[in-house]
Amino acid sequence: MKFNIAIDGPAGAGKSTIAKMLAERLGFVYIDTGAMYRAMAYYYMTKDIDIDDKDAVIAEFDNIGIELQYIDGVQHIFLNKEDVSSLIRTAEVGENASRVSAIAEVRKKLVALQQEIARSINVVMDGRDIGSVVLPDAELKIYLTASVEVRAQRRYKERIEKGQEADLAAIEEEIRQRDYRDMHRDASPLICVEDAVTVDSSYMTIEEVTERITDLAFEKGYQRD
Ligand code: DC
Repeated sequence: MKFNIAIDGPAGAGKSTIAKMLAERLGFVYIDTGAMYRAMAYYYMTKDIDIDDKDAVIAEFDNIGIELQYIDGVQHIFLNKEDVSSLIRTAEVGENASRVSAIAEVRKKLVALQQEIARSINVVMDGRDIGSVVLPDAELKIYLTASVEVRAQRRYKERIEKGQEADLAAIEEEIRQRDYRDMHRDASPLICVEDAVTVDSSYMTIEEVTERITDLAFEKGYQRD
């Protein structure tokens, strides 16, 4: 049976970790749409193109090829045939992805690609506009959130564990700004759609959140073939 799960929410709520686990558990394909915006941003950064110059951004579209491939069950993202999966994981690329994603034309290009992927397979797709724009007919929509303080703590821990420098107050401020931009842009801002179930992960473990969403999928009628 066809069953798609849309997971939206602010940066750092745990969307990708949860979506990955959920996809594995249900045998769905996980689609990380943030990685697509990050790959676009990465392209402009390497070409030294000003992301706020909308015309310059749009003029490059024909030179940008983005593809997803699964290697040993792990999603890899290719930008013009180059595997950029790990290169796009920096805070700077995340920041620029948030800026480039505010351009309506960029969204149109990536939404078409996302819809194409979800047409024929069961997906768990995470992002900011999945339940509202990309998959408005998704069988299950989740709005995954957590308090700014908890999200900042998680980011801080991640960076320290990776041996990077981290300043908790600065991370909290970064998160507030990113939330503001993602929620207040004109082009498909992050919203909690009416038919989404809100899950606040602040005081839940990854396992508990995954369990809760799995239960919701079965409640919404998902049946294993
Ligand atoms: O989830 P992420 O941190 O990888 O996303 C990076 C940025 O991309 C995020 O700040 C906003 C944008 N984005 C978006 O606008 N729509 C999506 N579906 C996914 C991400």
